[in-house]
Amino acid sequence: MRTSEPHSTDSSSTGHYTTDSMIKILLFVVFVSAATANPHFHGKAPRIELNDGNSMPTLGLGTSKGGVKGNEVQLAVEVAIDAGYRLIDTAQLYKSEDQVGRAVKNKILDGTVRREDLFILTKLWNDKHAKHLVVPALQESLKQLDLPYVDLFLIHWPVEDFPNNTFGETDYLDTWEGMEECKRLGLAKSIGVSNFNVEQLERLLAHAKVRPAANEIEVNPNLTQKKLTKYCKDRGIVIIAYAPLGSIPASKNNKDSPAPHLDDPLLTEIAEKYNKNTVQVVLRYLIDRGLVPIPKSTTPARIEQNIDLFDFCLTPQDIQLIDKFNKDYRTIDIPEWRSHKYYPF
Ligand SMILES: NC(=O)c1ccc[n+]([C@@H]2O[C@H](COP(=O)([O-])OP(=O)(O)OC[C@H]3O[C@@H](n4cnc5c(N)ncnc54)[C@H](OP(=O)(O)O)[C@@H]3O)[C@@H](O)[C@H]2O)c1
Repeated sequence: MRTSEPHSTDSSSTGHYTTDSMIKILLFVVFVSAATANPHFHGKAPRIELNDGNSMPTLGLGTSKGGVKGNEVQLAVEVAIDAGYRLIDTAQLYKSEDQVGRAVKNKILDGTVRREDLFILTKLWNDKHAKHLVVPALQESLKQLDLPYVDLFLIHWPVEDFPNNTFGETDYLDTWEGMEECKRLGLAKSIGVSNFNVEQLERLLAHAKVRPAANEIEVNPNLTQKKLTKYCKDRGIVIIAYAPLGSIPASKNNKDSPAPHLDDPLLTEIAEKYNKNTVQVVLRYLIDRGLVPIPKSTTPARIEQNIDLFDFCLTPQDIQLIDKFNKDYRTIDIPEWRSHKYYPF
């Protein structure tokens, strides 16, 4: 190899390179390739473009803590990162940000992942809607997460509500100005909303300086959300699908919850065709519709199964069959907020 240093006089050189410099170059090449081309860093889920030039993984881990004990969220996030998840969904409400932060730190320290390969998402809670409270609320989240920025910050609900169960009347357009300030300050790379309906998005888009990058809403076979998902897709707003399993989880799978359940015959038939299970079929259904599901699990084997989806896809006919489960049934509805003027459902 002869590329430079034509005046080298070292007798132990190979061509014009010393053995030492050859080793240094080799180590440098190995280091650069490991740092830039290690596919492991990028995880298993391909990324989807956001309307602000950023991108996010097409599947993530949910971390709400209902029924979760001790440090189970931290362990789940660590298992998830090892399994190839790069998107982690948390929220001020879940009180899981500290555990997510510890897991992220551990996985960066042990060399599994770099910060820039992860996509950490958190959400503003309903009692921090006043414009001047938004930046401090995100700063508190960043303290909990022990991170200098999040990749996406969402308004959790359009409804302002306080711990003493009284409503506030802050307009979510004012809250949005606080969100825009978070992006301007570099505390959030992207900003968006959650649980916003078409009318609220329409109003937001008419006033916003920064368009929302995403809307996180419930979508699953019982609640296909065709109108809202089309509206968002047409405007470049990514839909993040929460409660993606609908009635499938044992806790929601009671005699009152509508099909499909875990052993549903149609889902089983589709699953057998691809050598997958029914949960994987439901998650793939969402991905094939261009949505980003964020299934929650603290069970290592399920965490691994739930991302083992990128070696098959459903046919349009499979998707149409699963669409037929729709009955606009919500697993998340908050009846006590129904009288709030911005309640979205
Ligand atoms: N923006 C919002 O307003 C909002 C609202 C609700 C939820 N979210 C987010 O969305 C995430 C997901 O929603 P979710 O937690 O309500 O519902 P989900 O992800 O649809 O279901 C979670 C339940 O499914 C079980 N499960 C997971 N994988 C499974 C598998 N392969 N087989 C059988 N059971 C499985 C889990 O049990 P184990 O843990 O025992 O495995 C858990 O009980 C939340 O964690 C949260 O991050 C956002």
